[in-house]
Amino acid sequence: MKDATTSEPASPARPALIDRFGRIKKKLRLSLTDRCNYRCLYCMPECPVWKPRADILRFEELHALVGLFVGQFGIEQVRITGGEPLVRKGATGFVEMLQSVRPAGLRRVSLSTNGAMLSRAAAPLAAAGLDDVNVSLDAVSAEIFSRMTGGGRVCEVLRGIESARRAGLGVKINAVIIRGLNQEQVVPLTEWAVAEDLPLRFIEFMPLDGRGFWSEDKVVAEKEILASVSERFDVSALPRTNDPASYYLLDSRFQLGIIATVSNPFCASCDRVRLTADGRLFSCLFASTGVDLREALRAGRFDALDSLVRDAIWNKPPGFIERRNRGRGEVSMNVLGG
Ligand code: GTP
Ligand code: 5AD
Ligand code: SF4
Repeated sequence: MKDATTSEPASPARPALIDRFGRIKKKLRLSLTDRCNYRCLYCMPECPVWKPRADILRFEELHALVGLFVGQFGIEQVRITGGEPLVRKGATGFVEMLQSVRPAGLRRVSLSTNGAMLSRAAAPLAAAGLDDVNVSLDAVSAEIFSRMTGGGRVCEVLRGIESARRAGLGVKINAVIIRGLNQEQVVPLTEWAVAEDLPLRFIEFMPLDGRGFWSEDKVVAEKEILASVSERFDVSALPRTNDPASYYLLDSRFQLGIIATVSNPFCASCDRVRLTADGRLFSCLFASTGVDLREALRAGRFDALDSLVRDAIWNKPPGFIERRNRGRGEVSMNVLGG
């Protein structure tokens, strides 16, 4: 599996973005919008209140921040997220804008999407310079998919995935597994991914949904997922890397990933930072607040931005472990972008 992460020391000209536990940040997750055309049970509040448009950073502002994160802080990969990033008009044009940051050290531009709008968007995104897409697919059953996503149609996502492959984009599939909802889809999803030869990662349900739906008993842990998969495939564990997923080899030929944030947190190797669409920097998915960069950005105070970012990252909490007993996060996934 391609992973452009490096553990090379940062050059002295570009001091690394580092936290007090020595974790160097290489990946920026950039949310373009908190809005979405789906209502996944594990993400969206039941009645979402969207952020006012004036609060959302303009593409020029986002571009300036990416330039700063790459040029000044050594970020090498940008993942565009949402809500659903493709519901924001101009998302493809923004991917094109980001290409001008490549000479400064940006090596990869990726997008995480629900896939609903991908069949039309894939070719223009590839032409704009996107490297790859991660697409959510929580079920191959149309009925279960619709229940998980609040009315989404699995056929349009499958079409989107096909278009992305045809456009030459790298494609990975994400499936959040929730007890009582789509647990029985683990084997059918795996069989589908093996047949399609598409990388698949199962994700444990994290306490970041916007509607109070999460509870520990709904989490289908890595071990249980593996037990289901083992009934159908030969499974052997592969060595752990910096990727959020643990990988397993099925029938000696297919790599399956499991992102086990709840049962087996991987925070010790976290190399990510997150920026919300309204310009708040979250040093961790489970941080309770973000640091506002918008005010300094709009005031053109780039010196202030530098210390805001470095301090926020330096003070990054250890991760999920210290939050484990506090239950649900204060900011939901559609705002944080995963
Ligand atoms: P690549 O590894 O670059 O393919 O991307 P990714 O897996 O980080 O991105 P994606 O948007 O596909 O996220 C997949 C799942 O991983 C989502 O549920 C994210 O919330 C989760 N995830 C991503 N980064 C982190 C992280 O730093 N910590 C935790 N706990 N989960 C993460
Ligand atoms: N727990 C785990 N994964 C989640 N995602 C959204 N909400 C949650 C949650 N509560 C996933 C989406 C998408 C990725 C960006 O984050 O399914 O694949
Ligand atoms: Fe939308 Fe993605 Fe959240 Fe589902 S997980 S509601 S597709 S932002």
